[in-house]
Amino acid sequence: MKIFLDTANIDEIKSAVSLGVVDGVTTNPSLVAKEGISLIKRISEIAEICDGPISAEVIATEHKEMVREAIELRKIASNVVVKIPMTDEGLKATKILSEKKIPTNVTLIFSLNQAVLAAKAGATYVSPFVGRIDDIGGDGMQLVDEIVSTFLQYNLETQVIAASIRHTRHVSEALRIGCDIATVPQQVVYQMTQHPLTDKGIEKFLKDWENNN
Ligand code: E4P
Repeated sequence: MKIFLDTANIDEIKSAVSLGVVDGVTTNPSLVAKEGISLIKRISEIAEICDGPISAEVIATEHKEMVREAIELRKIASNVVVKIPMTDEGLKATKILSEKKIPTNVTLIFSLNQAVLAAKAGATYVSPFVGRIDDIGGDGMQLVDEIVSTFLQYNLETQVIAASIRHTRHVSEALRIGCDIATVPQQVVYQMTQHPLTDKGIEKFLKDWENNN
């Protein structure tokens, strides 16, 4: 399973990339707005650090305008993936972009039907939002499981990104399901590296070493 970093913050990206475990980056309008910088500028900066897929989301809601924005975003770098919201207009844009060989990440997926429609329109990736489903009392990982097994059953090539990840258990569940990718906030990446027995083990090794040298 690939790990993408879900942030638009340069320091967070630099830090996680230096661990050697980041396969790509996803952003959304809220994450970019928090940085107080233009989308084009921030995605260019990210492209200098990360050579894996970088998702950048369109703001338009009408399909022709989405396609126009997508073409502009793709000019930034060849690894830019255009994030398209899961709407009727988004599906139309996804179809056009897939014919133009522009990779897409259809976002804000909350049902199996939405995921299948996005795949049929030619999406490169679909992003079910696990945490936001859990937030309203649903089971986000159950949806990921359904999408992964349905895509397998029907030989759909679209890759599944477990998104809106809130904690390390979401990541390990996505792994067990066989999800293609999890897009993970930086703090969750650092929680994944930690285990108290690792720290305790290092402490003991060093103490034993000192006592005998
Ligand atoms: C990823 O593609 C999404 O932008 C992101 O995971 C949303 O996460 P949130 O629900 O924490 O905002």
